[in-house]
Amino acid sequence: MWRHMGGSQGLYSPAISYRPIQPSDLDVLMRLHTDLFPVRYEPEFYQKVVTGQELSWGAVDRNRPNGQNDELIGFVTARILPAKDSEVEDLLSCNMSKNDLKLIYILTLGVVESYRNHGIAVSLIKEVKKYAATIPTCRGVYLHVILYNNPAIHLYQKMSFQCVRRLYSFYFINGQHFDAFLFIYYVNGGRSPCSLLDIMRHVMTYLKGGIEVVISKLQRNENKGSRWHKNRETFNLVSTTQNKKILLNDDSGYQCV
Ligand SMILES: CC(C)(COP(=O)(O)OP(=O)(O)OC[C@H]1O[C@@H](n2cnc3c(N)ncnc32)[C@H](O)[C@@H]1OP(=O)(O)O)[C@@H](O)C(=O)NCCC(=O)NCCS
Repeated sequence: MWRHMGGSQGLYSPAISYRPIQPSDLDVLMRLHTDLFPVRYEPEFYQKVVTGQELSWGAVDRNRPNGQNDELIGFVTARILPAKDSEVEDLLSCNMSKNDLKLIYILTLGVVESYRNHGIAVSLIKEVKKYAATIPTCRGVYLHVILYNNPAIHLYQKMSFQCVRRLYSFYFINGQHFDAFLFIYYVNGGRSPCSLLDIMRHVMTYLKGGIEVVISKLQRNENKGSRWHKNRETFNLVSTTQNKKILLNDDSGYQCV
């Protein structure tokens, strides 16, 4: 339930709607990023968002008084990138060609303080997930979050993102290093090769392969009457414990914190 919002115009009930971010949002978008995040973003980043070169969804309160009924009160920005250029390619299901696969990387997400805890961030993330699912080659939505951002971590867990990595000293903010968690939400069957289902499939394949080897060797023994040797074939599950260290680069300021 919304608590009624106050102000010089008296109490009112907010009416939140969602729309793409547009050029007229530039100033507010910059102000919100400066208010909400401990890192500074390049002007180029904002330009790309408002001109649609990055993905974006904005939240506005249609009942907000004082001519603010189209002013952003929440936003999510994101980028589509080839899975092979991402740091999570190894976390995608192993039985598909990865050359044409895409991922969506969430760059920033924020909600104005007085509008928090009303599900606006949940709705914004749902938009991203929904969009990701409409791209047949897209296999997931992923993001980084600084390790002390409990509201955001709680939000991603609640929205079925999986925490797949801890990246040590990923952020460098005000002279201090901070770890990040990497969260991913799989779409279109892009799940991790180490999901329970995949492990069971690999085990079944292995057992089936082993049985076939035994049968064929028994058959050969019958034919040749010779002793058969111990089967030493090995099977490797893909490890997800690999922790690629990410060096901050030109895009470093674009990451979710
Ligand atoms: C994180 C953030 C986007 C959440 O926005 P929001 O609109 O309040 O989120 P929602 O209302 O959709 O709530 C999502 C969940 O987060 C929880 N949550 C929100 N604020 C919280 C807090 N301070 N502590 C713990 N949980 C919190 C809510 O309780 C809700 O879970 P619940 O329904 O199980 O209670 C918002 O707090 C924010 O803008 N923070 C500053 C910028 C930021 O950190 N962005 C994320 C960068 S990765």
